[in-house]
Amino acid sequence: MTELDTIPGDAPADLRRLRFDFGDLLDTIGTCVLIVDSDGRLAYLNPAASDLLDLRSADWLDRPILRELNRATPGLGCVIERTARTGLPIRRFETAPAEESGFVLGVSTALLKPREGALTPSVAAIFQDITEKVRAEGLRRRAERLEAVAELGASLAHEIKNPLTSIRSAVEQIVGVRAEPEDTRLLGALIVRESDRLSRLLGEFIDFGRVRVIDPRPVDFRAVVSEVVNLVRAHPDTRRDGVELAFDVPPRDVYVRGAEEVLHRGVFNLVLNAAQWAGRNGSVNVSLEDLKSDLLSPAFGAFQLIRLSVRDTGPGVQDDIRDRIFDPFFTRRSGGTGLGLALVQRAVEAHGGAIFVDNVRPSECTGAVFSVYLPTLPHAVSVRQPISTAVRDGGP
Ligand SMILES: Nc1ncnc2c1ncn2[C@@H]1O[C@H](COP(=O)(O)OP(=O)(O)OP(=O)(O)O)[C@@H](O)[C@H]1O
Ligand SMILES: [Mg+2]
Repeated sequence: MTELDTIPGDAPADLRRLRFDFGDLLDTIGTCVLIVDSDGRLAYLNPAASDLLDLRSADWLDRPILRELNRATPGLGCVIERTARTGLPIRRFETAPAEESGFVLGVSTALLKPREGALTPSVAAIFQDITEKVRAEGLRRRAERLEAVAELGASLAHEIKNPLTSIRSAVEQIVGVRAEPEDTRLLGALIVRESDRLSRLLGEFIDFGRVRVIDPRPVDFRAVVSEVVNLVRAHPDTRRDGVELAFDVPPRDVYVRGAEEVLHRGVFNLVLNAAQWAGRNGSVNVSLEDLKSDLLSPAFGAFQLIRLSVRDTGPGVQDDIRDRIFDPFFTRRSGGTGLGLALVQRAVEAHGGAIFVDNVRPSECTGAVFSVYLPTLPHAVSVRQPISTAVRDGGP
């Protein structure tokens, strides 16, 4: 008695029909299926794959095919070979555009049981022509980039226009007939103030554009944060409001791979904001901690993460502006340019991290807490050790 005989009703017949339908299905579906033996010979090619790759099943059956696949679609043969070698299926792979046709394939691979007499399994490749999708994505990304550039350009022009208009009008009044000396002095002061504003704006804008990690190195992040806290303590805004700053210095080194200057500027803007919003005699708390939970790590593609938290005793960030505070030129601070958090966000992203904002007590909307998550280097890394060896020796 076979296992099928024990299944009640018409089940065996149903299963046979299912197997038949399945074979039929492979021959008729639009998705391409190709099976390669453990020794790289073609075992099966469905009509969709045959059409797309322009290969006749009868010509290639039982013949080595990987090289031909790579020639037709760069990378297809390689992923199949890799799956066979490592025993690991590949979820989603995009081939390089084919030389002649330019088409791009989205490929996944699976391992099949070894064929009779073979020790190693066969590999099935399932793929589709995704050329149009890739093109459409490229166009969408280009449109988004242009949109962002246009938006940024419009905001910058707007920010420049206001002080320029004030300067022009002041100059007109000075050179106009019968300007009193006192008026001239006031108008002169206005010109200086507005020119300073313009110069600060352009300076910050240049900084914002320069957020790039060109030659990444291990950066002693604990030292960066320490230095920033000391700098912000000495800042005139902090001293004016009598704001206290505390930094819970972690007991061990924390190394981040990136650009020290960029990290420094990012952390500085974050801590300075907290000091500027903490309020009279308020306080700012900065902490740096290893993230024990692995939950977030895969999302960042990193095995070790650090969280930098910056809390203050200010009014917090109201819900209605929470989505906008990272936009360039968004500001609610008199004299602010609104480029600080945009720079922080770019700096964090350039290091493979993410930034979030919350209020300490959401119900009362009191005190903001900014959390920055950054992938870190393994503990053993020292600045003297070249990064490649450090990651190889001690890293994930
Ligand atoms: N710690 C904070 N508490 C409350 N609101 C904040 C805090 N940090 C930032 N914000 C809000 O986000 C806005 C944008 O901050 P951002 O640092 O980008 O610009 P800014 O500080 O206003 O100007 P600057 O370009 O000089 O930094 C602030 O104007 C404020 O409304
Ligand atoms: Mg700021």
